[in-house]
Amino acid sequence: MTVISLPVEPFDLVIFGGTGDLALRKLLPALFHRFVDGQIPAQSRIIGVAREGLDDEGYRASLRKTLNALSGSDPAKVDQFLQQVGYRPLDARKDAGWDDFAALIGEQPDHVRVFYLSTSPELFVDLCARLGQYGLNDGKSRVVLEKPIGRSLESANRINDDVGRVFAESQTYRIDHYLGKETVQNLLALRFGNVLFEPLWNSAHIDHVQITVAETLGLGRRAGYYDHAGALRDMVQNHILQLLCMVAMEPPSSLSPDAVRNEKLKVLNALKPIDASNASQLTVRGQYRAGVAEGASVPGYLDELENHQSNTETFVALKAEIANWRWAGVPFYLRTGKRLPDRVSEIVVAFKPVPHSIFDASAGPVVQNRLVLRLQPDEGVKLWLSIKHPGPGGLRLRHVPLDMSFAEAFGVQQPDAYERLLLDVVRGNPTLFMRRDEVEAAWRWADPILAAWAASNESPRPYAAGSWGPSAAVALIERDGRTWHEDND
Ligand code: BG6
Repeated sequence: MTVISLPVEPFDLVIFGGTGDLALRKLLPALFHRFVDGQIPAQSRIIGVAREGLDDEGYRASLRKTLNALSGSDPAKVDQFLQQVGYRPLDARKDAGWDDFAALIGEQPDHVRVFYLSTSPELFVDLCARLGQYGLNDGKSRVVLEKPIGRSLESANRINDDVGRVFAESQTYRIDHYLGKETVQNLLALRFGNVLFEPLWNSAHIDHVQITVAETLGLGRRAGYYDHAGALRDMVQNHILQLLCMVAMEPPSSLSPDAVRNEKLKVLNALKPIDASNASQLTVRGQYRAGVAEGASVPGYLDELENHQSNTETFVALKAEIANWRWAGVPFYLRTGKRLPDRVSEIVVAFKPVPHSIFDASAGPVVQNRLVLRLQPDEGVKLWLSIKHPGPGGLRLRHVPLDMSFAEAFGVQQPDAYERLLLDVVRGNPTLFMRRDEVEAAWRWADPILAAWAASNESPRPYAAGSWGPSAAVALIERDGRTWHEDND
């Protein structure tokens, strides 16, 4: 199948934090893939910025290694791409180099300018102040803020106010890379491009929804950040709530940025509060201990961290509810964790059972329909249906999926979420980015949970690395007579 790539205007994309993990693992490979597909105009420039005293050649040499190691990458293409990449050493808190940097950007006054702040949020203010000081915040400039935007409503407001003094809201792109994943966009296509689902998409027909984002990785090289954040701030407040919004929002009148974001905001504002009065029934937090992950023995979180006092959660399961007409009484079970048995992210919409079974007991149970949207790995959609077991032997029911793997169906490699999102910034399309009020509403819901945990003085429940989290997470859903979805259900 042909890949259709829409051209974009020439641009300058500056990555602050250009030597960091995200830049090297995600942003530059994403840009390289877009380059290979012919989507990066020849005059465009990509400029890495960090404190390390490198020059253009030094930076290119380190990128060359990374990009050549990508599967299927062609060294000649890598070299061509690197011609468009440069580097400037800068410190947000020191004057040196900023004049030269501003002059470099000024060489292309007509380019769209994207400033991607892939740094710790403490630097956002200084970086934006510098960009403002050098007049780099004018009409065609956009700033991209990597999550986390703060660690509470108060700190998020501070960051947003500081950035807002330099860049207008329409120039500010708060990235949540989960919104760039193919399956998440497919949720829009499935819900609003078909008539089949919408009539059933409510509490009359949906029993419950599950959202799981499971990772096999542990702390890795991010101890400093992660221990300060924990799973609720790192994954639930942003990625998982955004997925929940895409499932639960009312049909927007169009795909225009505000039409979509207004509907998501209504969902966030309708989330029922979880606080000290109900957090112990509605939430479970865990922390991994030593165990086996991906076939190897791995240490526990505290050993990896080299700090035996930490109460940071590496796993969360919770039961959320949305207080509106469409969703009243439909639980949304959310869970995420590090060091779980599989890397799998999926949304499961479980429909209600048939109201009356006409089948004999010998047919077996009539199992509920489920729609499973798999974000990774192997993006796709499965619709679980009851059918008759083929052949003689009486009418026996089987629960089987209509199964569509996007890679198989379309024969194309799924692009990484950042590929789509980076070019959306260049195009000036913020539909898949979080507006300030969404971030605030998400913190307004998350803050009381964090406060309840802090006040409880309880430690997170231990779970063995390589397991599906503390047993209390299973109890959380089983108390309601339901179970976490397994692919062979
Ligand atoms: C990031 C989190 O936003 O998302 C990480 O900070 C997490 O902790 C990552 O590992 C997961 O992203 P993906 O695309 O690999 O599912």
